Amino acid sequence: DAAEKGGYEHYMRKEIHEQPTSLRQTLSGRIDVERGDADLDVAFPQGYLESLQEIQLVACGTSYYASQYAARLLEEFADVRATVEIASEYSFDGGRDPWRTLVIAVTQSGETADTLGAIRRAGGAGARTLAVTNTLGSSVTRETEDSVFIRAGPEIGVAATKTFASQVTTLALLAVEIGRQRGSLAATDARAVLEDLRGLPGAVQQVLDEEDRVLEGAKRFADADAFFFVGRQFGYPVALEGALKLKEIAYDHAEGFAAGELKHGPLALITGDTPVLSVLTERSRPDETLNNVTEAQTREAPAIGVTDGTVETDSLDLELEVPDLGYVTPLVANVYFQLFAYHIADLQGRSIDKPRNLAKSVTVE
Ligand code: G6P
Repeated sequence: DAAEKGGYEHYMRKEIHEQPTSLRQTLSGRIDVERGDADLDVAFPQGYLESLQEIQLVACGTSYYASQYAARLLEEFADVRATVEIASEYSFDGGRDPWRTLVIAVTQSGETADTLGAIRRAGGAGARTLAVTNTLGSSVTRETEDSVFIRAGPEIGVAATKTFASQVTTLALLAVEIGRQRGSLAATDARAVLEDLRGLPGAVQQVLDEEDRVLEGAKRFADADAFFFVGRQFGYPVALEGALKLKEIAYDHAEGFAAGELKHGPLALITGDTPVLSVLTERSRPDETLNNVTEAQTREAPAIGVTDGTVETDSLDLELEVPDLGYVTPLVANVYFQLFAYHIADLQGRSIDKPRNLAKSVTVE
């Protein structure tokens, strides 16, 4: 067991640290930066992508948040309506031409019953279906027309970490591929996105090198009553995912909010013992988010922010830096949240790799 953890005390920390490698695997052989092309080797029928009307993503848990991130990328690059639904809530409505809706099941394990049920309903109603999964030969790959593998390598910790990063990255590649095919993404723009994706492993490594600062922060705030995570745009699903990590492994009360919603309710919960963690990066409306954070600080809340230098953040109690990687900067910011949740849980002596009441994959609906 100790050998398998490669010197780390927990699989989760090992898997967080594996991200530069797993992201390289995810990208390997799939991008041509010079030409601005991405190719996931999906055999869409001739003309299919051009005639596509809508993409629906279905998923649970962390995969659901990865899908929320991805839907924004799909809308941005592929000029197609993209919606996300929690798999257990999903029912398919494909209109008169269901085949023109592509339904994507996003599932690390490929075995989540809710997600399998959702994709079965979509396929049964005539949609074209695609699996985005980490697991070769998993059940989902038998339910869908096509499969794409995120290539993160086996993930043992119950709380998903490296697979979140690889899911978003894979779906970003799909968004580029579809955008190029549909003519909605110019080669120069695609090139810039692919450059940023290629920069991910190095940027994540820079965050991992700052782990000591995260540990200091975790020590400062480990006794908090609750943790609030806020973000906008691409920062919003990352806020939700950050809160989920803390709930899962630290058993602390944590919530993710759209930063603009703080003032519409959650602000009533803010005290000096409720740290607010925020994503303050370009393209995630950092100025407005910082205003929301300042409102929380006025109510004594300590503020921890992840920044890429686009806003003045002197007022933060703890500032964590990420390099600017365009659309995927919040994905790098997420690594700070993973480390933060890990250390908060570790300081409390939690059973990090096998949290109480949770399973790595849930095979009942
Ligand atoms: C379980 C796990 C989560 C995971 C979710 C979806 O609840 O504990 O970590 O995000 O299932 O899993 P999937 O394999 O479908 O991505």
